[in-house]
Amino acid sequence: MANTILVGAQWGDEGKGKIIDVLTEGADIVVRYAGGNNAGHTVFIGKRKYVLHLVPSGILRKNKLCVIGNGVVVDPIGLVEEIEGLKKLGVNVNPKNFVLSETAHVVFPYHRELDAQREVLKGENKIGTTKRGIGPAYGDKAARVGLRVNDLVDPARLEEKLSVRIRENNIVLKSLGAKPLSFKKVFAEYLAAGKFLKPFVTNTVVLLHEAMRRGDNLLFEGAQGTFLDIDHGTYPFVTSSNTTAGGACTGSGVPPHRMDRVVGVMKAYTTRVGEGPLPTENAEIADMLHAMGREFGATTGRARRCGWFDSVATRHATMVNGIDDLAVTNLDGLDTLEIVKVCVAYRHGKTRYDFVPNDAQILAECEPVYIEFDGWRTPTSKAKTWKQLPPKARAYLKAIAELTGAKLAIASIGPAREQTIFV
Ligand code: GDP
Ligand code: IMO
Ligand code: MG
Repeated sequence: MANTILVGAQWGDEGKGKIIDVLTEGADIVVRYAGGNNAGHTVFIGKRKYVLHLVPSGILRKNKLCVIGNGVVVDPIGLVEEIEGLKKLGVNVNPKNFVLSETAHVVFPYHRELDAQREVLKGENKIGTTKRGIGPAYGDKAARVGLRVNDLVDPARLEEKLSVRIRENNIVLKSLGAKPLSFKKVFAEYLAAGKFLKPFVTNTVVLLHEAMRRGDNLLFEGAQGTFLDIDHGTYPFVTSSNTTAGGACTGSGVPPHRMDRVVGVMKAYTTRVGEGPLPTENAEIADMLHAMGREFGATTGRARRCGWFDSVATRHATMVNGIDDLAVTNLDGLDTLEIVKVCVAYRHGKTRYDFVPNDAQILAECEPVYIEFDGWRTPTSKAKTWKQLPPKARAYLKAIAELTGAKLAIASIGPAREQTIFV
């Protein structure tokens, strides 16, 4: 399999968790490289549902090593809860199958509080964040005032650095009318979490390079999606990390020339949770999917906004990520439709765009240009092979892959491992 980066090609929630679980079979190590517990990656094994937030989705397979890389921001309280939750579900998480970078940055309660307060200040221009403190934590990292995991697991350093940060942040919080934090309480909680996590903490850069020398195959688990990337997304309606393929290098310490393949995951339609432009948004599709009990956020439970497949966006994603292979998920969500539309360009006044304009305001004003496909109106979720898919569904998949400009490698027709067709 060599070293593979898997990214979301849309606005997040493309089904990355499910595809990671499938591809982990052929990998030795699964690495998260960006984001934090704003992510929610769902994997079904049999009837049991797992939602991973920080721990790589590869943890659900035996004898695989899972790594949280330096590019991730880690909420240690959330991580401890997640590990305990997995243990309750029978998934053993120990330092042999899970390690955490000593240079990953740590999310503190003041990050979460500031995240919430900034959203209130933004009023109707709010981003619709997950309120997990992601933006302020990456902000502190860039401002060089963040604490890293190696600070968290050293009680004396934690005490010293945290007291300075709480003092400064309490001034800000008070001025925003929010409640200041108790240093004593936060310190005690984080001290305990640091103690719990210490056995997992290591130099993951050196570890990954040693693994590559042994010939191990690495699988990089992207979080969020291309259009939530801090540079390439619909700024300011984005997250605060580089979610795109380049982030896998900076967020893990594995250099670009060691990456062999990029897999782009996309739904057969489009969804977005949170605010910001979504050119193909369509209320009927949203109502249909919500009525089926689908498209509710895995992290916040919010109803996702839904729309037609946007090939302008996915083509752009192919460009910025260098996507080789496509995994198209949730094909079954379109099974009942008579007509299926696909956006092939945007119109803004007299201008026609075949790429995603950088200005979120312009993007919000764009009208999609659609082409139409005949619906297949046949359940697809039981198909085992490409040939067993209805011909019209195959035609649709081929067309969206061609418009996206990458090779169709996987079609997913249900949440389970078995509901995966290799093309
Ligand atoms: P992620 O954040 O990219 O990992 O995606 P999420 O887990 O947040 O959301 C994807 C949702 O789609 C989850 O509920 C998955 O179980 C589900 N899913 C993934 N692939 C398929 C599929 O092909 N068909 C159906 N019906 N559900 C799928
Ligand atoms: P996965 O990995 C979908 C969205 C939020 C909000 C914006 C900024 O499951 O695909 P943040 O809390 O990061 O500051 O929020 O980004 N967002 C996601 N949307 N899937 C995700 O992760 C997301 N992570 C963040 O809804 O619009
Ligand atoms: Mg998700």
